[in-house]
Amino acid sequence: MSVALAIDDLCLAYQDRAEVLTDLSLRIASGERVALVGPNGAGKSSLFLAIAGILKPVSGRINLFGNEVKPGAFHPDVGLIFQQADDQLFCPTVEDDVAFGPRNLGLDADAVAERVASSLAVVGASELAQRPVHHLSGGEKRIVCIAGALALQPRLLLCDEPTSGLDLRNRRCLIRLLQSAQQAMLIASHDLEFLLEVCDRALLLDAGRMVANGQVAAVFGDVALMEAHGQERPHSLHPHHVRHHQHPRSDA
Ligand SMILES: Nc1ncnc2c1ncn2[C@@H]1O[C@H](COP(=O)(O)OP(=O)(O)OP(=O)(O)O)[C@@H](O)[C@H]1O
Ligand SMILES: [Mg+2]
Repeated sequence: MSVALAIDDLCLAYQDRAEVLTDLSLRIASGERVALVGPNGAGKSSLFLAIAGILKPVSGRINLFGNEVKPGAFHPDVGLIFQQADDQLFCPTVEDDVAFGPRNLGLDADAVAERVASSLAVVGASELAQRPVHHLSGGEKRIVCIAGALALQPRLLLCDEPTSGLDLRNRRCLIRLLQSAQQAMLIASHDLEFLLEVCDRALLLDAGRMVANGQVAAVFGDVALMEAHGQERPHSLHPHHVRHHQHPRSDA
């Protein structure tokens, strides 16, 4: 299987702070869905910013589909759903915002309109198209952010807390959407049940270092490991008398 993302010896820091990511190396194959978990401040969002070319590494290499990521350049292969919707949304209307990526790809007006319509439709938000972005609710903003990233049709999707603020219907819609999507994904979330349903593999970060990299139910089901890094084994991985969880990776 071809490599979507290759990171070697990555170190990240902000101007006024010590290192927030130290010697991180990882590979994600094309089509693979990988969970990224860890405590607040572990470095998950910083890693996403570096992969998207927004945060310049102190050292190390990031390679996307065979091309080196250059900080500040436009990388159409990667679609980032920001943790804070207000960091992503900046156009007057929803339609303009979702159209921003496709326009940057140089598509003509009809193709842009088609991308906008299909991306909003797939997240169930077609009726929001003409709404001013600043009037949207928190969950509506999140859905528009997801549509904006999908509109790029990226080969790697970076999702930073994508279920945060979503009601259960929209959370379920997102799970189905991600399960059926073909692209590679790296998904940071504190919603471990969501990750169990969507991802194949999990990375656990703590204090800027990778402390686990393995099959998602194996990592999340390791009580000692999870508790050592501020996590809890998710409910569905606890032994059950009656099996009632649907995800195939659970023995519970
Ligand atoms: N712009 C910034 N300037 C200085 N420090 C920052 C900046 N952004 C993040 N940090 C610091 O970098 C560290 C890693 O932050 P990051 O946002 O990557 O964590 P995270 O794993 O995404 O956490 P969370 O689960 O809360 O989203 C934290 O200590 C944070 O305070
Ligand atoms: Mg974060």
